[in-house]
Amino acid sequence: MRIAIIGSGGREHSISQKIFESKKVDKIYCIPGNGGTQEIADNVDIDLKDFVKIKTFLISKNIDLTIIGPEEPLVNGIVDYLKKENLKVFGPDQFCSRLEGSKIFTKKICKLENIPTANFQIFKDSSSSLNFLKNSNYPIVVKADGLAAGKGVYICEKFSEAKKAVDEVFGGKFGKAEEILIEQFLSGEEMSFFILYDNNSFKIFNTAQDHKRVYEGDKGQNTGGMGAYSPSRLHSKELEKKIIDRIILPTLKYLKKENGIYVGFLYAGLMIKNNDPYLIEYNVRMGDPECQTILPLLKNDFLEVIESCINGNLKNYELTWKNKKSLCIVLTSSGYPNKFEKKILIENLNNIKLINDDYLFHAGTRFDEGKFYSNGGRVLNFVSIDQDFENARNRAVNLIKKLNWKNGHYRKDIGYKVIEKK
Ligand code: AMP
Ligand code: GLY
Repeated sequence: MRIAIIGSGGREHSISQKIFESKKVDKIYCIPGNGGTQEIADNVDIDLKDFVKIKTFLISKNIDLTIIGPEEPLVNGIVDYLKKENLKVFGPDQFCSRLEGSKIFTKKICKLENIPTANFQIFKDSSSSLNFLKNSNYPIVVKADGLAAGKGVYICEKFSEAKKAVDEVFGGKFGKAEEILIEQFLSGEEMSFFILYDNNSFKIFNTAQDHKRVYEGDKGQNTGGMGAYSPSRLHSKELEKKIIDRIILPTLKYLKKENGIYVGFLYAGLMIKNNDPYLIEYNVRMGDPECQTILPLLKNDFLEVIESCINGNLKNYELTWKNKKSLCIVLTSSGYPNKFEKKILIENLNNIKLINDDYLFHAGTRFDEGKFYSNGGRVLNFVSIDQDFENARNRAVNLIKKLNWKNGHYRKDIGYKVIEKK
């Protein structure tokens, strides 16, 4: 089969690698891909907003199946567009993608279907928001409605911070804002919960714990994700049942009722408090870096898994997982998530000798005239799988030390909640 993968991050490199290992694959194209994907696929530089160009390329190369990695093209309706051209594509339609594209859309479903989530209010202008915030308890959470590349969420400790958030959102920092979401702050521990759905039946696609803050001990600014471990330490059959019954099933029921077509991954960002799950947000794709952490644990032929989903046959397909622990550490360019330099040479990649169950997934890298350069904030993902998380982390850290990239920053404490507390 001839496969196209849309996206350029660590998630897309890990998807490409798993597809590359399939016995059914003949050729992979990545649009646009990165320095890692070019080793196993042809990178094709097309703007992800240019659906016409993407379609023309897919048809010209006789692509059998296109996998969409990131949220933006999904929210912009790429699946509906390509399906109209009779192309096979893995991802939810534009209606279902609103689960990620509009936080307010998701909150309204929560209310309608009685899904546990933080209490919330929606406001249409700054003065009514500020009136409410003057009389609120803190901390409180202020959110821009639409996609904001992970930056549209403000955890506010006091009124002045909430006011700044409201000013930024209605000031158009994340595009024109018609509405704003203000919600109760939830305490507890976060968990990323994934399912694979063929629009009729679903399979749980493992759990993970992301580490969003830039510094050790979960300090500093939020980032796209500094590392993850899988499975989450919170996972139990009892909790899983609550998540499915209270959150996943009512959501899928709602989407069905509204004639949405959901073929793809659904990622529930959850807060777990006293062993009860609350929905923080939905993403309509795999997580990054959760994908890099979870996919190496999968034993199945990943292309077969995706095909069974596209063909509506997931019910009869059994997923099998390695009974091991996976841990991913992200190496960033120093300065990230603020200002950082690009195009820094990464010299020692050849020194990295991966043994069985070590993985190196590229994110912001570029291959140019025989050399690798950084090309983004999150640069490389080091993943190791082992019997326990501590060994996995030691192996990933040792690989990063071997690379000895002077311009890099990483957290040595990924997985501290499962490792230090043992
Ligand atoms: P998001 O950009 O939507 O992924 O949100 C970023 C992070 O903000 C989440 O991963 C949580 O850590 C935090 N967050 C969002 N909503 C809440 C909430 N209601 N209570 C506590 N933390 C939250
Ligand atoms: N790991 C967070 C995300 O993918 O949104």
